[in-house]
Order: sequence, then structure tokens, then C-alpha cells
Amino acid sequence: MSRITTALRLTRELLMLLIIVSLLAGCGVSSSITQPPLSGNGKDSDADITGNLTAWTSDGIVAMNEYTRSQKFGDMIVFNRLENGMVYIAIQSKKTGYLSLGIRPEEKMQGGDIITCVMDGNQARIYDTYSIGTFGPHPEDTTQGGSDDIMEASGSRQNGLTTFEFKRPLDTKDMRDKALVAGENPIMWAIGPSADITARHSSRGFDTLVIE
Ligand code: HEM
Repeated sequence: MSRITTALRLTRELLMLLIIVSLLAGCGVSSSITQPPLSGNGKDSDADITGNLTAWTSDGIVAMNEYTRSQKFGDMIVFNRLENGMVYIAIQSKKTGYLSLGIRPEEKMQGGDIITCVMDGNQARIYDTYSIGTFGPHPEDTTQGGSDDIMEASGSRQNGLTTFEFKRPLDTKDMRDKALVAGENPIMWAIGPSADITARHSSRGFDTLVIE
């Protein structure tokens, strides 16, 4: 009888141990995903750099110390770093529709150099487009005599968070792109209701992207 009681107690302790170990492992997974975004009012901040800047890797994951700056636009966070005329960007959101940045729009959406990111299954697709009308459309640059200047695109969807990474020269010299500069850049942003990049946004706005 007492052997059975001891066996039961041992089984219960083993179960408790297993639960504690699996809880600890779960914490490790979620904390490795993002560089913590910013304090303050959420508008604009230096990214949380706690050590030396690490090498930039296009793997759809924002690692600790990978970016120097992050800003919140609606429900998305845009990270960037600048090196030798190349700007490295990550866009992150809990939303699953398209995430989009439009550089230097002229009148409403018109003239905006629009970069739109979507996940197609496990595959990230990042489109280099240009808005030819005040409310679109914004066909791909390659269909308007321009070129696709988005480099090393990647993306992931993990634990309810979608992340895209890519790089682009500040000034691509493409007639269907707008040059970015170190410092302040007027932008528009939009989040789509789905991955259909021709569908009208569910939220949008104008803001300033600070590149440094
Ligand atoms: C994908 C197809 C798109 C369609 C069909 C579309 C359509 C429209 C329409 C009808 C409006 C006026 C109504 C409103 O204010 O919501 C509008 C406004 C606006 N859109 Fe889009 N849009 C598209 C994509 C985008 C993208 C990708 C961006 C940004 C990257 C964007 C940025 C804006 C902004 C900032 C406004 C406000 C303009 C103003 O009131 O001055 N749109 N859009």
C-alpha cells in the first residue's frame, strides 16, 4: 500500500516538473522574436540598443540590436538602420493584411513610391509599386518602365506577429521610386484588410519616417 502511495507521489512530482520545464521553454520562444519596441508615446523612438549593432540578416526576424530606430505607424512598427547609402527596413504588425509604406506622396496617394508587403503562405512578397492616381491605382514599377529595387526580401508569421525585412538603396535612381534621405522623410502608410494588394486599406495615414 505504502509503495503505491510513494509511486503516486513520485508521478505527481514528475508531472509538476514537466509542467514547469515546458512553461520555461515557452517563455524562451516568445522572447526571441522581436527587438522590444520603444517606450514613450509610441510615435517615434530609438530602437532598444543595449550593445553593439549586430549584422543585418534578412530572415524575417527582428533580432536584438539589429536596427537603430523604430517608429509606430497605426498598428505597425517600422524599424530601420542606415549604412553606406543602403537603408535596412523591417515592418512588423499583429495584423495579417498587407503592410505598406508610401514614400513622398504628392497629392493624397498620387506620386507615392509604395512598398507593399504580404505573406503568401510561408513566402514573403514585397512589391515595389508607384501610385499614378490620387486614390491609386499603384501598379508595380516594372509595369511602368521602372525596376524592382527591393532587395533581400524575407518575412515570417510567428506567434501572431508578421514581420518583413528588406533593404533598398536610399536613392535607387529609378524613375518610379522616390529617393529617401538620412533624417526626415514624408510618408504615407496603410494596412490592408487582407493580402489582396488591390483592396482598399482598413487603416491609413501620413507621417514622417526618420532614417538614421
Ligand atoms: C490598394 C489599393 C488602394 C485603394 C483602392 C485605395 C483607395 C483609397 C481611397 C478610395 C481613399 C479615400 C478614402 C479614404 O480616405 O480612405 C484613399 C485614401 C488614402 N490612401 Fe489609399 N488606397 C489604396 C492603397 C493605399 C496605400 C498602399 C497607401 C499607403 C501606402 C494608401 C494611403 C492612403 C492615404 C494616406 C489616404 C488619405 C488621403 C487623404 O485624405 O489625403 N492607400 N485610398
